[in-house]
Formats: sequence, structure tokens, C-alpha cells
Amino acid sequence: MGTTNPTEPDAFAMPQTWDPARYIANARFVADLAMPVVDLLKPVAGERILDVGCGDGYLTKKLADLGCSVVAVDASAAQVESARGLGLDARVVDAEKLAFDGEFDAVFSNATLHWMRDPDAAIDGAWRALKPGGRFVGECGGAGCVAKIRSALSLALARRGHLIEDHNPWYFATGEEYAARLEARGFRVESSLVFPRPTPLPKDAAAWLETFGENFLRPIPAKDRKAFLAEVQEDLRPSLCDADGKWTADYTRLRFRAVKPARLGIPGV
Ligand code: BEZ
Repeated sequence: MGTTNPTEPDAFAMPQTWDPARYIANARFVADLAMPVVDLLKPVAGERILDVGCGDGYLTKKLADLGCSVVAVDASAAQVESARGLGLDARVVDAEKLAFDGEFDAVFSNATLHWMRDPDAAIDGAWRALKPGGRFVGECGGAGCVAKIRSALSLALARRGHLIEDHNPWYFATGEEYAARLEARGFRVESSLVFPRPTPLPKDAAAWLETFGENFLRPIPAKDRKAFLAEVQEDLRPSLCDADGKWTADYTRLRFRAVKPARLGIPGV
């Protein structure tokens, strides 16, 4: 926990919150840039698909519009409300506590799995949710994701006596590490790769941090947060902001496709 205040609450006990309006203003790119992972899913009309971490339902709607029967889950009640507004079957469920049993042709997830404190619990849930022969296709932040942003945060937190490790909510795996977790659960991994995807931001680094980096702000008193964000932003300006004032975040993506074998116990079948 925080190094200066032993009474500080557990940052992980207070999950990141999602305000749908702020999300649309600062994070629409998350779904806009995700069509390649939808292509990797190869959804077929009539298939039953579980969308894990549906956010405001933008991608779920695309799957539904293709003729799939989609159940969407998200831990954020506000996001689920937004998704329901699109006419979707959206439910408030934590991705680490999926309780579906052998009913889906595919489990799909975008920009969610790097938020897992227990990645294996999410993988287990996906496994259980799938029919034999079903596929698990996902994309999330991977090893090295937002390394420059994390480094600037680390410095600004350290100046105030805090360790970034105590407030980091993200798990950024390598392709090999994630494949090993999938295989340990019994999946046959067809691909699991990390690649850089520099990501243009709609506003600036401070707005991005307000949307995605709530955990890092928690140890900072509310009255000091603006100055904290400005400090992190100025540190990042030389590397992430171009001469026209356009910000680009140093994202990487982990993208994978894995299959639950049709005949369990016979690897690769
Ligand atoms: C994402 O939603 O893809 C993301 C969020 C936080 C850090 C990096 C990526």
C-alpha cells in the first residue's frame, strides 16, 4: 500500500469506475480500433457469443448486427446500462467470476483482460462458458503497454512518497506468458502475440489518465490532482505530443485466439 500513509485504503479494493459519457469522449478509440480482433473472431450469424468486458456495448452491437446472439458482461453497472440502451442483453458480471456453463460458441474480449487481478480466474471462466470446440478470442494491453506513461507516473508518485506498484491495476503479459496460462487451462493456442499500436488520443495525456488511470490518482489528495496530472503530462510531452499538439499513447496489444478442444483429454483435437 502507499508508502507514506499506512492507513491508506487498498487501491485494488476500489475498482476503476467508468462514466459512460467520459468514456465516449475519451475512449471511443478503444472499440474503433478493435475491428481486427473481431475479424480474428470470425463471427458467424446464429452463433452464441459471450462478450467479456463489453463497456458501453459498441462492439457487442456490431456482433449482434452480424446476426450473432450475444450476451455481454461488464463489471460496471453504468456501462451495462449504456449497453442495454442499445437493446443488448447486457449483465453486470465481473470477468473473474463468470458462471456460464458450456453454452457459448465463442468468448470474445476487447480491452478488458489487462484489468484482471487474477488472470487465470478469467481464463477459467471463459473455458467453462465455452462449448467443446468453442473459441476464446481476445485483445488487451500487452507487455510494454503505456510504458512511457507508467514511467512518468512512477516518477510523479515517487516524488510524493508513493510506489507505483502499490497502485498499478494493470497486468500486461507477453504473448508467451498468456499462451502458457491458456494452455495450462487446456486451450489449444492458435496465436498469442504482442505488437506495438501507437494510439492517437482524442484529447491529451491528462484526459487519458483521468479516464483510465483513476487508481494512480487515489493516493493524491483531490486538491492536488490537477497539478499532479499537469506534472505527468509535461514529463510526457516531449515523447508523446507532436509539434501540432496531437497526443499519441504508447500502447501495445496482446491479441490471441485459442480453442477449447472438441474432445477433451485429446490434445489438439
Ligand atoms: C485499454 O483500455 O486498452 C488500456 C487501458 C489502460 C492502459 C492501457 C490500455
